[in-house]
Amino acid sequence: MVQTLTILGLESSCDDTAAAVVRQTEGQQAEILSSIVFGQTELHSAYGGVVPEIAARAHAEKLDISVREAMQAAGLTFSDLDAVAVTAGPGLIGGVMSGVMCAKGIAAASGLPLVGVNHLAGHALTPRLTDGIAFPYLMLLVSGGHCQFLIARGPEDFTRLGGTIDDAPGEAFDKAARLLGLPQPGGPSVQKEAETGDPKRFRFPRPLLDRADCNLSFSGLKTALMRLRDQIVAEKGGLTRQDRADMCAGFQQAIADVLTAKTRRALALYLEEKAQISPETPPALAVAGGVAANTQIRTDLMDLCTEQQVAFVAPPLALCTDNAAMIAYAGLERFRTGARDGMDLAARPRWPLDQSSPSMLGSGRKGAKA
Ligand code: KG4
Ligand code: ZN
Repeated sequence: MVQTLTILGLESSCDDTAAAVVRQTEGQQAEILSSIVFGQTELHSAYGGVVPEIAARAHAEKLDISVREAMQAAGLTFSDLDAVAVTAGPGLIGGVMSGVMCAKGIAAASGLPLVGVNHLAGHALTPRLTDGIAFPYLMLLVSGGHCQFLIARGPEDFTRLGGTIDDAPGEAFDKAARLLGLPQPGGPSVQKEAETGDPKRFRFPRPLLDRADCNLSFSGLKTALMRLRDQIVAEKGGLTRQDRADMCAGFQQAIADVLTAKTRRALALYLEEKAQISPETPPALAVAGGVAANTQIRTDLMDLCTEQQVAFVAPPLALCTDNAAMIAYAGLERFRTGARDGMDLAARPRWPLDQSSPSMLGSGRKGAKA
């Protein structure tokens, strides 16, 4: 029998409190019935990063409001739902705990089944929510907190091919903007400056390209930028607009080059595996995360996909950044496979998607990189 599932999703692992309702009839495209996101940017803006305690308190205050708004916008009551899904990690533990407790409360009061979701699985499954692409596909997550290549084979079956060993690219863009006195978030500011710059005037390093794996590194770029800035200031007494534009263009080109070169490697591994396990489905590269909005990076990745005859899928930005529709959808996919969690569902600060590959050390500006 064809089954239609309607799932409420909650997200509170970083600095967005979100609730959403997603519905899908088996074999059809999923539908987002509502998606509410309360950001916390202004609460953290004075501190230069997300303050976990402030984030947790704001999530606790906003979660029930976002649930009420999401249910109202969908025009549903809890009795119309099949389950409640919630981000159970990885992320800032106070926020994750707030979400898990809220979801448990809803489950206990309404009798709905509870489904815990890995936040990264939410991002990684978004191309199926928006474009219905078939497994297996290659996923590149690039945001302020994440940077990794994943082969997605099923709702809970991911292989991590590699990722950043230090900063995420968004973090690098944000730090670069800070060094040059440009407004935050840094990615859009650097992109705008780069439009009038010459990417060839200054040479930035391309870290780890000499290594044949899919790991990336971005922290050295920021150091190179700082040295360059200090050198120009020492020589000329300050930066001209053109200096700044040229630095942004060179910096952005270096990030785009590194991402494109490593994506080429990840694609080769993915295509090799795909030829063996499922040669009949069309190959696809999906990108998600705020950095995927960068025009230069997007163009370079699209060109690579055209050359390799692989479909390029980039969900709309509102669904690439943190939201609860992706959590509801990932919960829906888990629920369909029979997965259920009990009242002992734990909030996990670290939770690598691929249990067989070691999680990265250190935590990003916005929490664990998992
Ligand atoms: O996915 P996202 O909204 O949030 C998390 O990191 O969770 O990504 C935000 C990051 C920021 O670091 C921002 O500077 C970067 O994405 N970003 C961009 C662009 N737009 C946003 N980076 C480069 N170019 C852009 N156009
Ligand atoms: Zn995220």
